[in-house]
Amino acid sequence: MPLPRSILSTDMEPCDADLKLVRGTWPTDIGGYYFISSPAPEYKGRHIFFADGTIYRLSLKPGEFGAAPDAFAFRHGIIANPSHRLRKKAPQVFRPTLLGVASPFGNTNTANTAQLPWNDRLLVTGDVGRPVEIDPVSLRFLAEVGHRTQWLDSAPAFPVLPVVTSPAHPVADPERHCVWTADYNMMTHKVGIVRYDGGKEIKRWPLKGAVMRQTMHTVSQTREWVLLMENGMRVDMAEMSGAPRKVTTFKEAPLYLVRKDDLERTPPGEPVPFQTIPIAPECMHFYANYDDSDGIKVLFEHSTDSDIAVAVAPGDLDIWGRAIDPVLEGMYGLALSPPSVTLRELDQETCTSKLIASYENPEYLWNVQTSAMDWSRKGLEKPTLHHVMYNGFRPEGITQRQLALYADRIDTSRLPREETAPCLASFDWRRSLAPRALYRFRTDEWATSPTFVPRNPGAFGDSYESADPGGHDGYLVVVVQSEEGFRIELFDADKVSQGPVAVLAQHGHRVPFVIHSSWMPRIKHADQLDRLRFSEELDEARLRTLPGELADIARDVARELDAELGYT
Ligand SMILES: [Fe+2]
Repeated sequence: MPLPRSILSTDMEPCDADLKLVRGTWPTDIGGYYFISSPAPEYKGRHIFFADGTIYRLSLKPGEFGAAPDAFAFRHGIIANPSHRLRKKAPQVFRPTLLGVASPFGNTNTANTAQLPWNDRLLVTGDVGRPVEIDPVSLRFLAEVGHRTQWLDSAPAFPVLPVVTSPAHPVADPERHCVWTADYNMMTHKVGIVRYDGGKEIKRWPLKGAVMRQTMHTVSQTREWVLLMENGMRVDMAEMSGAPRKVTTFKEAPLYLVRKDDLERTPPGEPVPFQTIPIAPECMHFYANYDDSDGIKVLFEHSTDSDIAVAVAPGDLDIWGRAIDPVLEGMYGLALSPPSVTLRELDQETCTSKLIASYENPEYLWNVQTSAMDWSRKGLEKPTLHHVMYNGFRPEGITQRQLALYADRIDTSRLPREETAPCLASFDWRRSLAPRALYRFRTDEWATSPTFVPRNPGAFGDSYESADPGGHDGYLVVVVQSEEGFRIELFDADKVSQGPVAVLAQHGHRVPFVIHSSWMPRIKHADQLDRLRFSEELDEARLRTLPGELADIARDVARELDAELGYT
């Protein structure tokens, strides 16, 4: 069965819906809000991940935000950050490239991939740009995090929009009450670690001598350490100049360990000590056990032989030699090998890792996608279940170009002879990641964006916690998309194999491609805080390098934002 065309169709406008229960029983011990991020495909350009961001919010109790008493409000907001506003006012000067969407102003900040709930605040992120803060209730843009001059700006000559490459997955520190993230320069490969304490400023420390040859997607942490790792999206400079792509992802990538105490005693701007541990195979998402009293244990979701940089282009043939439907252009290169999850213990003294457990299942588990875990403090310290979504073996998402590039490192005998279905898997931390449950969707479905929601959230003190934290005492909220439309499936997190306990949908409602999701126990309007203003970043000397009409548009956007946000 083909991939659902609707998820990549460029003529779909994001819109609100009121979802109703169409199957099962909606539990009474669930609440809070489920968020998902989407690169709105009306401007996907050469790669779906470079489209401007949209955020969706689902109320997990019925009858909110104008929905009927038996309906669940599903609301959306466009991430109207400065680059989105500039593109709307001057669309003719923006053009998609292999590194994003460029313009005389600079590059767009996509903010289309993931969210970081941080107490009552909500940051939205993408790999190409700084984190963006939005109001969790109105879903309106509030600010970008950190002045461009504080980040490692890969394109300081751009007059208005910098190129800040920071990972889509920063992490909130529950004890030091800050956000840890990082940045890197795609040309020089230099890398730094960044701390955000919530105000206008960020703090940044260079990792002198560390290199980020590809890109960086995830930041993880233990109580004492911050972990950064390179992931497999690699820029081919020759391809940037129009030549056919020649490079593949590196199979082994450096993981950098930085001690939090070292960061606290090092003045920002000064190099901070770090250790380097090689990890293979390549990996987009990894999660450390917060409790490091008995060693640093990390779960890696390896994305073996997938290549995000090889997006479907006009005229591409798929792995079976069929012409790929043009509607799928921009889809990223899906996996040519079955992915494994591994559990490793890191040794910062010897800079090595010890493999504790590894699991793969070529029959069911292809194309690791996104995952769900208990983000409560106790859940991080003592994880029980880690839930991973796999999209299945999808021939239409693998081009002949990608097959040729990876021919010498894949085992074609392991490629399934038929398309396989998405599968949700629960791995048990308590039993060395033994799979506790698998649930298969249909092959014509695209299942995605799982998030863990604790049972009876808030009933036991911490609003993120259930009675028995760790990832099993609660629910998984999952998006399922097909040509029949969009629906939300709700699973008992401890019994995923039994299938959804409830399904929400609105007849005919469709949603574009979505990526990561998250959950907040409550939402309230954002407090008035001292946030970065776009107008503060505008520099008249830089603006004079632009044609006059474009400089005026930038000034207009600054005035518009200052007025909307109450600064004037
Ligand atoms: Fe991600």
